[in-house]
Formats: sequence, structure tokens, C-alpha cells
Amino acid sequence: MILDLGHGFVLRRATDADHAALCIVCLKTGAAGQDATAREDDPELMGMIYAVPYQVLEPDLAFVIEGSNGVAGYLFGARDTGAFNARLAAEWYPALQARVRDPGSDPARWKGSDWARRMIHHPALDIPPALPPYPSHGHIDLLPEARGKDIGRRCMGFLEERLAAAGSTGLFLDVSPANKAAARFYERLEYVALADPELPTSSVFMVKRLA
Ligand SMILES: CC(C)(COP(=O)(O)OP(=O)(O)OC[C@H]1O[C@@H](n2cnc3c(N)ncnc32)[C@H](O)[C@@H]1OP(=O)(O)O)[C@@H](O)C(=O)NCCC(=O)NCCS
Repeated sequence: MILDLGHGFVLRRATDADHAALCIVCLKTGAAGQDATAREDDPELMGMIYAVPYQVLEPDLAFVIEGSNGVAGYLFGARDTGAFNARLAAEWYPALQARVRDPGSDPARWKGSDWARRMIHHPALDIPPALPPYPSHGHIDLLPEARGKDIGRRCMGFLEERLAAAGSTGLFLDVSPANKAAARFYERLEYVALADPELPTSSVFMVKRLA
């Protein structure tokens, strides 16, 4: 255990034995913070994009939140987003691309998890020009049983400390514009939505400088 989060939850390092649980948490929070199970035909793909690669490529900043029912969330960080994305391109996506078909470029023809299959074949790994002052990024998802207990705040504080100790000057969270609750949560933690006309409108980038 790394941190006692109270209410029967602890933070511990994620291991490769957690991959299935990471995929479940990702699926159950994958529709702008809500359960995406009904939308997806492949329950693992979201986790293979948004969760598992953090444990594989940046294990020192990959954690799970565990309670009496098992894994109830995860917390990930990448200290150097550019380096992390380069490793995703070189080491992570080629094997995934070999496993799933590309459904083509027309969203009107996509069904179920085709959006994720398309993303696997065409991952968005370029860093927008406004983001370099915030070289790190984080990612947190909690199942409903772990929410509203100050766990998100404590986890983000812990991640910020780890990133600052590793020399990072700032971090961002890539938030779905539909996930207004997450944006409000980050605002409570003194993150601000980055405003820049060159940023993609498909995401809200919540940013914070680190001391
Ligand atoms: C968003 C999330 C990480 C927040 O974690 P949490 O443990 O529930 O939040 P906390 O209890 O630590 O709350 C910290 C502060 O944020 C506020 N907050 C948390 N969730 C909120 C919400 N849905 N709406 C408004 N404010 C919220 C709390 O009221 C608290 O404010 P305070 O400073 O006035 O006390 C968690 O609810 C979650 O994982 N949700 C589903 C997945 C998700 O959306 N992840 C983020 C993807 S970018």
C-alpha cells in the first residue's frame, strides 16, 4: 500500500495482474464518466487505449484504488507526454493494430467499438502547440462506490507531488466536453480550462502549473 485513502480504500501500485480490472474500470467510466458497457461490443478496447499502456509504459506512475470489492479505480501519470506518446506509437499501437481491423474513416458506418478500432489505427498522438508548458498528463477514473469521498482530490494531489518531485513544471488532463462533472472536479482542484483557438474542440484541456 502507498496511501490509505480512508473509507476502506487504499492506493497501491498497479501491476500487470491488474490489466483486466483496469479495462473494467475504463469501460464503466468510459461514456463521459458514465458506464459505457451498453455502447461497446468489445469491452477491452477502451482499456487498451486509455488505461493498460500506462501500467506497461510508465509503471512508476500507475496506481489502482482498491476497496473491499477489489479495484475501484485507477490513477495514471505520464511525466513527459511527448516521450510517452512516442513510445505508444512505437511500442504499443503496432501490436494492437495487428489484432483489430480498421473500420474505415466514415463514422456513419461505425458500430459498437468501431470508434475505438479507428482510434487504434489512427491514434491522436500530436501534442497541441499550447500544451508544452504542461509537459505531463494524468488520468483518473473511479467507480461509483469510490466517488464523493475526497479520494479523487487526494489521488490528484499525490500525482502532482510525484510529478513535481520528478521535475515536471505542469500537467494537463484531457477531458471530454460532455463530462461537465469532471471539469467541475478539476476546477475545485485549481485546474483551469486552457483557452487557445488552436486546441482541438474534441477535448477540454484542464491544466495546472506545478511548483
Ligand atoms: C471525477 C472524479 C475523479 C472525482 O473524484 P471524487 O473522489 O468523486 O471527488 P472528490 O470527492 O475528491 O471531490 C473533490 C471536490 O470536487 C468536487 N466534485 C467532485 N465530483 C464532482 C461533480 N460530479 N460535480 C461537481 N463537483 C464535483 C467535490 O464536491 C469536491 O469539492 P470541494 O472542494 O467543495 O470539497 C470521480 O468522480 C470519477 O472518477 N468520476 C467518473 C470518471 C471520470 O469522470 N473521470 C474523469 C475523466 S477526465
